[in-house]
Amino acid sequence: MTTPPPSEAYHFIKTRTASLPRMGLILGSGLGGLASKIENRIEIPYREIPGFQSTHAVGHQGCLIFGSLEGVSLVVMAGRFHRYEGYSTQQVTFPVEVMKLLGIEELVITNAAGGINPQLNVGDIIILRDHINWLGGVISPSQQMDAQEEWNLATHRHASDFYSRKLSEQAFEIARQNDLPIFPGTYLGTLGPTYETRSEYRMMKAMGADVVGMSSIPEALMGKQLGIDPLVLSIVTNVATPDQQNIADHDEVLLVGQKTSAFVEILIRNLLQSL
Ligand code: HPA
Repeated sequence: MTTPPPSEAYHFIKTRTASLPRMGLILGSGLGGLASKIENRIEIPYREIPGFQSTHAVGHQGCLIFGSLEGVSLVVMAGRFHRYEGYSTQQVTFPVEVMKLLGIEELVITNAAGGINPQLNVGDIIILRDHINWLGGVISPSQQMDAQEEWNLATHRHASDFYSRKLSEQAFEIARQNDLPIFPGTYLGTLGPTYETRSEYRMMKAMGADVVGMSSIPEALMGKQLGIDPLVLSIVTNVATPDQQNIADHDEVLLVGQKTSAFVEILIRNLLQSL
C-alpha cells in the first residue's frame, strides 16, 4: 500500500484541532509519562490519521497529542514507528513531515538507548552531538520538488554538525542549573530489533559510539532536511558490560525510561520556558 502525501494527514488533523504547534516532541520507549502532562490536550490515535502506522513496540502509546506545556503549543508523538517493525524509512519519517506542515519550528526527539561509553550510568541523558547511521535509507521529503533538487538533497550530504546548537547549549545550561546527569555524545543507530552481543558492544565502543539505539536518526535527518535542526536526547536505560554475562531486556529499558522521565520533564519544561 502506498503512503498518502503528508498533506492528507495535515488536512485530516485540521478537522480535529486548530492547534498551531511551535514544537514537535517525539517520545520513545517508556517516556510516555511526559505525554500525560500535556495540558488542554486533544489526542488523535495514529490508526485514524492517514499515512500513520500502528505502533507494535511495548511502551509506545500510539497517538498524536496536541496541547501545551509551559504555555507553549506542542504536538507530541506518544510512540514512534521503527524500521524493525517492518516500516520503510518513508513511513518512519512521515510524521516529521506532517509536523513540519503543522508549523513546528523546533523538533525534540527522545529515545531509550544502551550505554556503550563505560563512564555512563543508567539514567544518564545524552544529547546527541553526532551519530553513526546503520539504519540507512534515503530520506526523501514527499513534498513536490524538482528531480534535481531531490537528487541533491538525497545524495552526498555530509550529516555532521546538524544537531541544534541553540537547543543543546540551552539544555546543558539547564542541566547545570538543575544538577541533571546530561552529557554530549555520539549515537549509533542500528536496525535492531535485537540488543547487541557482547562482541558488538566491544566493536561499537572501539568505533567511538557513546550510546546505541534503534531509532531517531531517520526522524532527525528528515527534520534537518526540512530546515529544522533537531535536538535528540538518549536516555541510558542499560549499560553495556561486554566482559560480563548481563543481558539487556525490554522490561528493564521501560522501567528506567519511566524513572528518568522526571529528568526529561525538567529539561523539556525549562527548554520551553526559554523559547
Ligand atoms: N541496544 C540497542 N537499543 C537499545 C538498547 C541497547 O542496549 N537499550 C535501549 N535501546
